[in-house]
Amino acid sequence: MTIIDLRSDTVTKPTAAMRTAIANAEVGDDMTGEDPTVNRLERMVAELVGKEAAVYNCSGTQSNQMAIRAHCQQGDEILIDETGHIVNYEAGAAAALSGVSARCLRGRGGMLDVTDLEGMIRPGNQHSCITRLVCVENTTNHGGGRVWPLAQMVRVGEWAREHKLKVHVDGARLFNAVVSGGYSALDFVSHADSVSICFSKGLGCPMGSILAGDTATIQRARRARKVFGGALRQAGMMAASAIYALEHHVERLKIDHDNACAFARAISGIEGIHVNLAEVESNLVFFEIDAGLGTSSQLSTQLTERGVRMYPFGQQRLRACTHLDVTTSDVLRAADTIRECLALGVNDSVAGEQY
Ligand SMILES: Cc1ncc(COP(=O)(O)O)c(C=O)c1O
Repeated sequence: MTIIDLRSDTVTKPTAAMRTAIANAEVGDDMTGEDPTVNRLERMVAELVGKEAAVYNCSGTQSNQMAIRAHCQQGDEILIDETGHIVNYEAGAAAALSGVSARCLRGRGGMLDVTDLEGMIRPGNQHSCITRLVCVENTTNHGGGRVWPLAQMVRVGEWAREHKLKVHVDGARLFNAVVSGGYSALDFVSHADSVSICFSKGLGCPMGSILAGDTATIQRARRARKVFGGALRQAGMMAASAIYALEHHVERLKIDHDNACAFARAISGIEGIHVNLAEVESNLVFFEIDAGLGTSSQLSTQLTERGVRMYPFGQQRLRACTHLDVTTSDVLRAADTIRECLALGVNDSVAGEQY
């Protein structure tokens, strides 16, 4: 049975051309700054996002946590939308690694505006922690795959600067936002102090992420990378995959977004399935199954038995994620399979929730 895997854009496998780039990479010891391919990638991304420096890392979680360590002191607090990856899916790392707590705010679609942030800065007396950092996620993941409007980011960035707060962008899927939002990565992150970008999601690399910011921030982050046990050696092979992806896999993200829209349109006609087409802005489609028909876990399990994989996110909600390794006909077949499952009746098997 051919599997249509819509669980995540992290499931992609490197293409033949990317594997060639990996095989041909020049390498050296990155810990001593001697890996020419890592150095090239770091310069390339720093320039792309208009920052002074960048540091290549293993994962998005690592980049985000290095940013938190670099910006904050023990006892500080971050402001973040309540759906944020940093606060929900990074194993409590801000508290565990940096002694930083989070004040979770209710935005819309995973996005905060100044009206949500106003009044949320702690008073600065000895009873309160110190509010230090605003975290922005673009595109939002659990917020619904939404794309920040540039004007909203400008407002949040200016507000933060006025209140002497730092801003970190979790841009795990920043290039999805750029392709969909019609702005450049540089324009978006010029209102932030740091940005993390993942290569192992829509960009299709086997692993890797990068954190960019000013020289002092990246120096502190580099030290944090070592403390967290993530300093690298001949990482140029993986950095080569990232360079390849930046050169070949950014514009094509539009295909993933079109496939997400095609899937959303196809399931919007299924009785008992609810999807808001206006909110499908990138490669993530969140939808709900009527409680009377079954749970998201039951539907997910039935789909898996028919070769279609997607994650349940909550009791009734599921997420389908399009990527490099699925086609338009795959997503239409996935929609047909949902229709088939509902027609047959969704039984009571169990599947686990994932990130
Ligand atoms: C918005 C967001 N940030 C960060 C991450 C963490 O990336 P990684 O799995 O590479 O640690 C993810 C992963 O799904 C994510 O969706």
